[in-house]
Amino acid sequence: MKGCNANVADFLMQVMRALLRPVHRWVWLDTARRARKLLRFAETEADGGRDLVRAAEVTPDPVLRRLFLFHARDEQRHAELFRRRGAALLCTLSAPSRSGYRADWLAPGERGLDDLRIEELDDSALLAFLHLSEKSAATDFASYRDVMQRDPPTRAVFEEVLRDEAYHMKYTLSQLARVSPQRHRSLLWRARLGRLWKGYLRLAIALAGVFGGLILTILYFTLLVPFACLAKRAAWQEPPGWLPVSSERNNASLDRQY
Ligand SMILES: [Fe+2]
Ligand SMILES: [Fe+2]
Repeated sequence: MKGCNANVADFLMQVMRALLRPVHRWVWLDTARRARKLLRFAETEADGGRDLVRAAEVTPDPVLRRLFLFHARDEQRHAELFRRRGAALLCTLSAPSRSGYRADWLAPGERGLDDLRIEELDDSALLAFLHLSEKSAATDFASYRDVMQRDPPTRAVFEEVLRDEAYHMKYTLSQLARVSPQRHRSLLWRARLGRLWKGYLRLAIALAGVFGGLILTILYFTLLVPFACLAKRAAWQEPPGWLPVSSERNNASLDRQY
């Protein structure tokens, strides 16, 4: 039954990847956007690395401490790989890009620890969260690698990072089963629900941004029109050119600052 569930989940993941492939191809096609996204990924990976160093500091488990430090070193290396490739792509651009749109919600990077407070989590909750985060990163990076046929160096970067993410995904699951043999399934479900909630919040924030922009545009073209007309009318009533300053104001001007 467990094997059957895993097969269904794998199948659904393959379907999702196939459905999103045209979207990812479009997102990664533009060189400037590709560079910006890689630089953003570098920041997230470096953030994740710092959080893992903190996790290594606070864990009482010596095995986890060693693994977290190895993991942190990997994330730091990923940050360096993404940063170098992003910078190299920026150097190939003839003119700076004007659009800053990165389409992060269509093609996210590794989520890192999503601003979790490491000190408030025990090892098993942290491992459950890390496992899901690494799994999602491995799935996303595999999709990005698949649409990168025209950019072999970036494809190679994703290939290399992907190998590490697959290892992170496996070790976090095996350590979770070791640290919490009875509760590891329920902890994974709790972490899944937490990620779902954060996904909903991200979506809600993105929608609020879109609707906010839409409402402000409508207000600009409706509510501000009468004020613009009044300002134009006032401008027409002003005589053109320079106006003489009154003699009273002119004489006093040298005695005061304004
Ligand atoms: Fe990573
Ligand atoms: Fe990772």
